[in-house]
Amino acid sequence: MTASASDTSGKPRLFLTRRIPEPGYSFAQEAFSVTGGERDEPLAREPLLHGVAGAEAVISLLTEAIDDAVMAAAGSRLRVISNMAVGFDNIDVAAATKRGILVTNTPDVLTDATADLTWALMLSVARRVVEGDRMVREGGFQLWSPFLLLGRAVAGACLGIVGMGRIGQAVARRALGWDMRVVYTRISGPLAAGQVPAGARWQYRATVADVLQESDFVSLHVPLDPGTHHLIAARELGLMKPGSFLVNASRGPVVDEAALVASLRSGHLGGAALDVYEREPRLAVGLAELPNVVLLPHLGSATVETRGRMSELAVRNAIAAVRGEPVPHAVNPEVL
Ligand code: GLV
Repeated sequence: MTASASDTSGKPRLFLTRRIPEPGYSFAQEAFSVTGGERDEPLAREPLLHGVAGAEAVISLLTEAIDDAVMAAAGSRLRVISNMAVGFDNIDVAAATKRGILVTNTPDVLTDATADLTWALMLSVARRVVEGDRMVREGGFQLWSPFLLLGRAVAGACLGIVGMGRIGQAVARRALGWDMRVVYTRISGPLAAGQVPAGARWQYRATVADVLQESDFVSLHVPLDPGTHHLIAARELGLMKPGSFLVNASRGPVVDEAALVASLRSGHLGGAALDVYEREPRLAVGLAELPNVVLLPHLGSATVETRGRMSELAVRNAIAAVRGEPVPHAVNPEVL
């Protein structure tokens, strides 16, 4: 730590773009001289550019774009941008690497919470849970009927997973309880035999198209990058089985949302369940009017336990980076 990067407390300067949960928030106050983070609301561009000036570490959230201009505004003391999220598409990692700034993220600690929410989405859309809840609240429930809000069976169906990383695998593990066959595709090829749990029926497919054509439920678990933007567009939706369901708890722009609305309107897809949106928090025209969609406000990792672990890990990443210690989760370790 250089003397100029710290205040009179001798602690390095950390800029928090937004309030983070405990215990990370207190942990940050102990280790750093903290500015920012007083409020839980997205930071506008000007206060962001102003706030980062002179910071040695920045903890960011996925609601702020951390691009080269932000890094330039921070100045030469900036050592680390610690994102409190597993995804880091809000950060220009190439620009950070060029400037020798470390980028870190918070994987692992949110895997189970996100996999659980994926299942909540899948079960909700298949069994029309939200439609049913709405009907009861609105006084529309008369009496049991053999035809009322019939959904589709999840048990025994085929689950397709696009992106079989940590979260994809956690979603697939849960499918064992539903006796589902899982087909998956993965950029780095099939999983090793030892990575497949005993009794699981996981089958690798070489292409996304293969997964789409075979699955009753398709769940997306890829990061957002130039190669996955609109990975699921009109052509891909057309490859999905009639009546099948699309679940997205990854990043909104992975799906062409207007094409999804068109596919749902045409009756080709059985339904969709989304936690994320192409132009978050805005929705594609017509999406909210469709009955067979479940829409959540980006809650993948939203449990008290998980958000606590994420905040702690984001601070641990930042501390390790400024102290020159081994960093738990570096996105661009080549700068070290
Ligand atoms: C949430 O979306 C995350 O990337 O952690």
